[in-house]
Amino acid sequence: MKVNGTHYRSLWWDEDQSALQIIDQRWLPHDFRIQQVDTLRDFADAIVEMRVRGAPLIGATAAYGMALAARIDPSDAHLDEAFEYLDKTRPTAINLRWALNRCRTRLKTLPEDERAATALKLAHEISDEDVEINRRIGLNGLEIIRKIAATKQDGEPVRLLTHCNAGWIATVDWGTATSPMYHAHDAGIPIHVWVDETRPRNQGALTSWELGSHGIPHTYITDNAGGHLMQHGLVDMVIVGTDRTTRRGDVCNKIGTYLKALAARANDVPFYVALPSPTIDWTVDNGVVEIPIEERNEREVTHIQGLTAEDTIGQVQVTPPGTPGGNPAFDVTPNHLVTGLITERGVCEASAEGLAGLFPDLANLEKSA
Ligand code: MRU
Repeated sequence: MKVNGTHYRSLWWDEDQSALQIIDQRWLPHDFRIQQVDTLRDFADAIVEMRVRGAPLIGATAAYGMALAARIDPSDAHLDEAFEYLDKTRPTAINLRWALNRCRTRLKTLPEDERAATALKLAHEISDEDVEINRRIGLNGLEIIRKIAATKQDGEPVRLLTHCNAGWIATVDWGTATSPMYHAHDAGIPIHVWVDETRPRNQGALTSWELGSHGIPHTYITDNAGGHLMQHGLVDMVIVGTDRTTRRGDVCNKIGTYLKALAARANDVPFYVALPSPTIDWTVDNGVVEIPIEERNEREVTHIQGLTAEDTIGQVQVTPPGTPGGNPAFDVTPNHLVTGLITERGVCEASAEGLAGLFPDLANLEKSA
């Protein structure tokens, strides 16, 4: 998508430097900084510190990490070491392990002298596939928005609500939850997006930055406003992303998603999840019990970052000194609260049958593993 009129992906390979470039998201939306990632330590830090974030982008980044590992030393032992090292960086988004597994498995079938070149090709392939998957999610989600738009009168906008940032910077391009929004806007369907701030890290500000850059009308709201808006008939549809969805369709996503799903159900508002297939964990059934939830630093809760009056990016403390902060970063929405899963192959029910119906190849692969 575009930043100040220039098209960017959220990461790209620089042939001249023979290195990966990323957008350092810690400074957005106030400052657009690009960073080169040169060492395995850089890769791990970029993921842990959330310079790159969002499940699909973490996966693509990890694939380039494996490419670097194969270039340094293509032996099985070193690939295993790099796998373990990168796998530890963030526990919840399954795309990380999915990408690491895909790279390691493929590379181990090759002679060592072919591994570095193939690993880089594979990382490019994973990135390009992500873009195409998200584009298709956008087209499938567009049809749902189009149906709602048909019920509106006099160019009234379809009112969407989203949580966190499942936007183009959380993927390689398009985003997952935002892709239907970009497609709808580009198709001339009037939309308005309620953007949850998404404490503690306020990824809603990233979503607002993206939507604003694309000219999509939106309003940034507190996390607690969604229920009230739904109760007053001001939300037509919720679309969120996911970090891991189980084979029966339980959806793990940024903390607070579950509360939005409860409010949506109580108010008869359709609650959709944009789900790229690499985010399905076919090994897990009950998401509440089985998905590890990342606990992040309490400082993210006790402090808040923003632009100061002096135009610098700074942090202020919001709690009294010594007050402990609790920071579970994700929660799980059980499948029965999900209206539908918008995938690259179409929209399905959030159930084992729904997912296996769209992805029989992947579901059966796991069964036979
Ligand atoms: O902690 P983050 O910012 O990496 O969490 C991101 C989310 O929860 C997104 O909704 C999810 O990864 C889907 S991104 C397309």
